[in-house]
Amino acid sequence: MCGIVGYTGREQAAGILLDGLRKLEYRGYDSAGIAVRNGAEQAQVVKTLGKLDSLISLTDGGKTLMGKCGIGHTRWATHGVPSVANAHPHVSGNCRNTGNGPVESAVVGVHNGIIENYMELKEKLLTHGYMFYSETDTEVLVKLVDYYYRKYKIGPIDAINRTMVRARGSYALTLMFTDYPGEIYAARKDSPLIIGRTEDASFLASDVPAILNYTRDVYYIQNHQSARITPDSVTFFDLNGDKVVLPETHIEWDALSAEKDGYEHFMLKEIHEQPKVVSNTLKALDFQSIGLTDTVLKGIRQICITGCGSAWHVGMAAQYVIEDLASVPVRVELASEFRYRSIPFSEGTLVIVISQSGETADSLAALRKAKECGLMVLAVVNVMGSSIAREADFVLHTVAGPEISVATTKAFSAQLICMDLFAIQLGYVKGLISQEKYDFYIKEASLLPDKIQMILDDKQKLQWLSTKLAAQKSMFFIGRSLDYSICLEGSLKMKEISYIHSEAYAAGELKHGTISLIEEGTVVLGVMTEKSVLEKTYSNMVECKARGAYLVSIVSGNTGKLKEIDFNICIPDCDAVFTPSLAIVPLQLLSYYTSINRGLDVDKPRNLAKSVTVE
Ligand code: M6R
Repeated sequence: MCGIVGYTGREQAAGILLDGLRKLEYRGYDSAGIAVRNGAEQAQVVKTLGKLDSLISLTDGGKTLMGKCGIGHTRWATHGVPSVANAHPHVSGNCRNTGNGPVESAVVGVHNGIIENYMELKEKLLTHGYMFYSETDTEVLVKLVDYYYRKYKIGPIDAINRTMVRARGSYALTLMFTDYPGEIYAARKDSPLIIGRTEDASFLASDVPAILNYTRDVYYIQNHQSARITPDSVTFFDLNGDKVVLPETHIEWDALSAEKDGYEHFMLKEIHEQPKVVSNTLKALDFQSIGLTDTVLKGIRQICITGCGSAWHVGMAAQYVIEDLASVPVRVELASEFRYRSIPFSEGTLVIVISQSGETADSLAALRKAKECGLMVLAVVNVMGSSIAREADFVLHTVAGPEISVATTKAFSAQLICMDLFAIQLGYVKGLISQEKYDFYIKEASLLPDKIQMILDDKQKLQWLSTKLAAQKSMFFIGRSLDYSICLEGSLKMKEISYIHSEAYAAGELKHGTISLIEEGTVVLGVMTEKSVLEKTYSNMVECKARGAYLVSIVSGNTGKLKEIDFNICIPDCDAVFTPSLAIVPLQLLSYYTSINRGLDVDKPRNLAKSVTVE
């Protein structure tokens, strides 16, 4: 959460910083700020409350801030309410205002993550005469660096290293020291931070899209490492202050893939990219090359899938498919729970961590816990080079490209297809799927992109339905087995961006309490693509209608008459294994148009951020 950018080079920094922040706004958007240095002058700090536009207009697109070196931040509040005082950058000086303007300070910095022992550190700094203008842990961190820097008269890297030893928690920290014009310093633990280079400039960012316009050659700074960044070089250090050499990585994503490309919102663009994303992900899947050889697969006795939010929903869908096709027992755990549980795993357990960003704090912690228990970990990630990708034993890459909208769509679809193919491969290797059946599944999968396109081409009726949904106070999504997993995702999409209360229920559970919430006009949306359980779910829908519900259904192919349904959405037929890949598309579109009809900010829903890198 939160976005960090930094630039030092030959150009005016402010415009570049604002451009980078624009690309990162999806990581947090309750306040924003930049600090720019003009030569050896004190940093000029400008911070505003609300979205980035206020900062852009206050600085006239950056024109009012002279200087070729600077750092910037867009915030998702953790410590302290969204306010100008709590916005980053923070300064080490004892200013009495909000930290805006030129403030006499040795250090100015921005930070992502959470410092768990910040209160204890604050107490210590108070006894040394430091005063605080904000409620943030970041101000404490900046002042702690300042404290070591001045007390021991040491260089920036040594001061940062001492700070890293004392601070507990997660951080991507970016600093400028008044004594070191043109230089930026950085440090990292468990929060993403990359450094990009061109011939005459260096860039920092918490996420790739911020610097794609300038460079695709980047370094991933590792945990407990620091860096000194100048226009001409970047040098990395370990916790002892010794130099370390990091490999340069070339990012394949092109700059255009992080733009809206004519669509009104990133979410709509990303929904429409799904045919291509599913096709690219299918083409890229190669189990042998990532180490999932037949021998490894044959040795899998049990699987535990973990992740958060939508990634967890993919796990729920995969559970049905893997157990069905490969007959391997699967449990699905929320990463935030998994990390604190003592689950007795037997030998031959594979833990699968699913994550778009590869940086979600709970998913990363779950991965580490699995590794501590000596278990094999397969990561299904979209961002290569991310922490989860780097720490897993095997990595399946979802080739979705950068996903900017907070509500995930194309990454979800890529994860689904990855897990389906994993299940098919596992079943095949275990001898439970014949060659003929295997070929059939591969053929069916290859037809999905065109079928998704057919749903996208037929979206007018969904637009119409969304006008009705927009007036709802509450909605229910019901389904059985695989359909239930899609209900979970459809319901999350709806509440996430339309702010309509919505619940997903396994259809058979309704009668055990939830049905009391159904009243005249309540929308109940039944996902009924699975022929074997369609009649059962339909009966549950009819029970809701008898209590006044308005019924919407999603069915696959020709199902015959379901006469009690008020609004039917028919998706193309396909093998049951793959129906979630189709059924989710109308639900994504419905959420999108409902949010639009309610006049909301689709790509940046309130209180949320794209990547949850704090616990
Ligand atoms: O980056 P991750 O896949 O690990 O993120 C997990 C969740 O935070 C994410 O799926 C979230 O639920 C989405 N905003 C839902 O649209």
